[in-house]
Amino acid sequence: MASENLTHNNHLNGDATTNRHVSKKLKLAPPALITDAEIQSEFSHHDPAVARINNGSFGCCPASVIAAQRRWQLLNLRQPDHFYFNELKKGILHSRTIIKDLVNAEHIDEISIVDNATTAAAVVLQQTAWAFHDGRFKKGVDAVVMLHYAYGSVKKSVEAYVSRAGGDVIEVPLPFPLTSPNEIITEFRCALERAKFGGKTVRLAVIDHVTSMPSVVIPVKELVRICREESVEKVFVDAAHGIGCTSVDMQEIGADFYTSNLHKWFFCPPSIAFLYSRKSSSSSDLHHPVVSHEYGNGLAVESAWIGNRDYSAQLVVPDVVEFVKRFEGGIEGIKRRNHERVLEMGEMLAAAWGTHLGSPPEMCASMAMVGLPPCLGIKGDLDVARLRTHLRNEFGVEVPIYFRAPATAEDGEVIGVVTGYARISHQVYNKVEDYYKFRDAINQLVNSGFTCAQLST
Ligand SMILES: Cc1ncc(COP(=O)(O)O)c(C=O)c1O
Repeated sequence: MASENLTHNNHLNGDATTNRHVSKKLKLAPPALITDAEIQSEFSHHDPAVARINNGSFGCCPASVIAAQRRWQLLNLRQPDHFYFNELKKGILHSRTIIKDLVNAEHIDEISIVDNATTAAAVVLQQTAWAFHDGRFKKGVDAVVMLHYAYGSVKKSVEAYVSRAGGDVIEVPLPFPLTSPNEIITEFRCALERAKFGGKTVRLAVIDHVTSMPSVVIPVKELVRICREESVEKVFVDAAHGIGCTSVDMQEIGADFYTSNLHKWFFCPPSIAFLYSRKSSSSSDLHHPVVSHEYGNGLAVESAWIGNRDYSAQLVVPDVVEFVKRFEGGIEGIKRRNHERVLEMGEMLAAAWGTHLGSPPEMCASMAMVGLPPCLGIKGDLDVARLRTHLRNEFGVEVPIYFRAPATAEDGEVIGVVTGYARISHQVYNKVEDYYKFRDAINQLVNSGFTCAQLST
């Protein structure tokens, strides 16, 4: 701010030589990189008693962005009519323009801002429901394909909008743990083959970019290409963990619809997501599930006013851009370092517990699945839920855990003894001590002879 004033004053004084000199100097000065102390200060509202290694679930928002959000909220509360008539549309368009450039979309109309990935899924699947309703899709013949590991709320949405409308749902089974993306590609091809032999027309494929639980990076580009080869009509990529977590490029991926939250890995407050809809993909038929005054004016415009509410999370995207610029390499640098650190921490934990990671490095983004010691006796979903609560309440560690039923060979022999995998995340605020705390908590449980059966009483 001080240097801005200096330039401004020189300009007012008409001192062109000094002004040129100052602005040249300002341009050359490298932006000051954020220090460790500043990072800690940006996240000082986090509970210091908790090792928060679960950025994947709820994301995080730095203090400077929270402050920007507060300014927007007050601007609205101060004079709502001025805010509505002069600020809101302009602000949302600005955020959309930034997102369009970040994700390499072709046209601004392809980018709508919605609350979250769940809403985006409802937008896309509602279009499918209407196609059945209008008789364009045939009940019992036309189908939607999705991964077995699709997110729970998205599966419910498929149930509500597709199954209920008479559509068939084909789930692609996925192995876990995984050794290569090819395992997913093979299963996906098989599912499309099965659909074809069953006389089904696949109208929509719903593909995760980074699955939630277990968390792995899906080879979306290859799956979209297979969909094109196999005449799948439309492809929707659910990348709730997309922007800031993995590579998000609309031209490269080539899907018809793509959604990513910005509140998970892009430092926005809850809640904001974008929904990309390719211009050529009958996007005029897409509607926000909450209908308001802008109905029929295109999804982006519809979504920018769904009734009176707090839109501030959608307006702070420029402030997030300023925040990420303070890190070496911006968001790309953050993403790369998160990936490297989460692998390092995952390998450290697996070595300490004598287990393994659930997928190879190229299938991890900023999250990794780490096998837990088999002696913890994890026998089902209830056990992992209780163990997670126990780690939170007794050890101050926040980490989601996945139950994987023991695999058996054809002769009945058990071939995988690890039945629990922790999903660890890494974000800029994490310290190595967070992961040591988790390691030591598990070691303490193991050394004390603990098993999950003790949590059932
Ligand atoms: C793959 C996937 N899809 C959808 C969602 C839903 O995101 P939201 O709750 O922000 O709508 C999540 C949340 O973690 C997710 O992991």
